[in-house]
Order: sequence, then structure tokens, then C-alpha cells
Amino acid sequence: MAKLCIALDTNLPQAYDLISSLRGYPIIFKVGYKLFLSHYRTITDKVKEEGFELFLDLKLHDIPNTVREGVSSAKDLGADYLTLHISSGRSAIREAVQIKGKIRLLGVTLLTSLEKEDMEELGMCLDKDEHVLRLAQLGLEEGLDGIVCSGRELPLLRERLGSSFLAVVPGIRLEGEEAQDQKRTVSLQEALSAGADILVMGRSILRSENPIKRVEEVLLILS
Ligand code: C5P
Repeated sequence: MAKLCIALDTNLPQAYDLISSLRGYPIIFKVGYKLFLSHYRTITDKVKEEGFELFLDLKLHDIPNTVREGVSSAKDLGADYLTLHISSGRSAIREAVQIKGKIRLLGVTLLTSLEKEDMEELGMCLDKDEHVLRLAQLGLEEGLDGIVCSGRELPLLRERLGSSFLAVVPGIRLEGEEAQDQKRTVSLQEALSAGADILVMGRSILRSENPIKRVEEVLLILS
């Protein structure tokens, strides 16, 4: 069954509130820049102490030695999942995999906020699908546990790379919701039928009138 991962892109009080109110629910909590840079262990320990899996979304993107040190520190924090950009390169991924221990390392392919025009502007010359496929292939060859990608490219990855990797899909929007800064969004149903294992949802939950009810509705769809 696919899992829901809530992106805690919010302030500390709302994050605490959500974590406490959702105790016992089958959820992963994702800690990203906003909370991590301001609150570090306060937030990561809270997630772990309440019995949830910790998804540390720091999207490491650096030289091999620095990536290795970063993965090692994430291990000390008790992270269950950690993200890094596959575009850090083969050697950086190799170093990360060597040191990762039990952390599930997830490689970011192409951010869901980017589309064709952005890729051209950044000098990425391959077709979008080919670009994502190439990065995913490289990451899996080096032993990553999972791939972060849009649900739009996931069917191709499943077809070409099989089902042995964890597919993590952000950029999910419910019917009628604005995409905001995201561009390659999919619905919950689309993510599921594409073969997602972990569905990452932030603002759909955080900004809904009743976040707990929203989570329960999503869990019902996933069950
Ligand atoms: O609010 P929303 O649901 O758009 O949040 C998506 C979350 O997933 C954010 O925390 C963002 O950093 C993360 N993410 C993403 N696209 C990726 C990788 C991670 O949106 N490719």
C-alpha cells in the first residue's frame, strides 16, 4: 500500500500540532529547509519521539566528500529517508550509498516545479522523459533505494526500470486546487496508478481548513 508523507513546510507550532494530533496514523513526516534550518533536532527528535518515520528532505547537491559527510550526519539524526540530487554525479552517489547504513536514500531527478522552458533555460538539452530516465537509471545503478520524480514520468520509469525501487511522488494536487509554484503536478489517483510508493503532500494538507480531516480523506483513498 502506498504511504502518505506530509511535508512539514510550516512553522514549529503547526508542525507540533499536526505530529501530536496524528499520533498512530500510518504517516511519514518530511522535514525540509524551513524547519530544519531553524529548529534542527527539536523537530527531527519530535518526529521520531512520536513514533513516526523521519524523511529528511535536504536534497544534498555537492561534491562527493561533502555529500558523504552530510549522509553520515543525517544518520546520526535518525533519518529514515534522505534526499540527494542525482545530478551531484555518480561518485557523490557512490559515496552516499557507501555510508548510508539503514537510511533509504532517495535521488531527486527533475524538480516538479520545472518544465520544458526551464530546462532549456538551464541548458538541459535532453527531452524531459529522457532526462529523468537517465538520472533515475544512474541513481539506481549506484544503489539508491528510491527515486523522486513527478507522477508524469513515473509510468516510463516503472516500464523501463521495473518496480524494485521506491517511487516518491511530490507535486500532488487535489481536484480544483491551484498548482502554485509546482508545474508537473498529478492527482492522487494519477500518482497511485503510475505506481507511487510514497505520496508527498504539503500545502494541500497544511493549508486546508481541517488538516486532520484532509489527512483522513487521503488515507481512505490510499487504503
Ligand atoms: O506543498 P506541496 O505539496 O507542493 O509540497 C511538495 C513538497 O515536496 C515540498 O516540500 C517540496 O520541497 C518537495 N519536493 C517537490 N518536488 C521535488 C522534490 C521534493 O515538490 N522534486
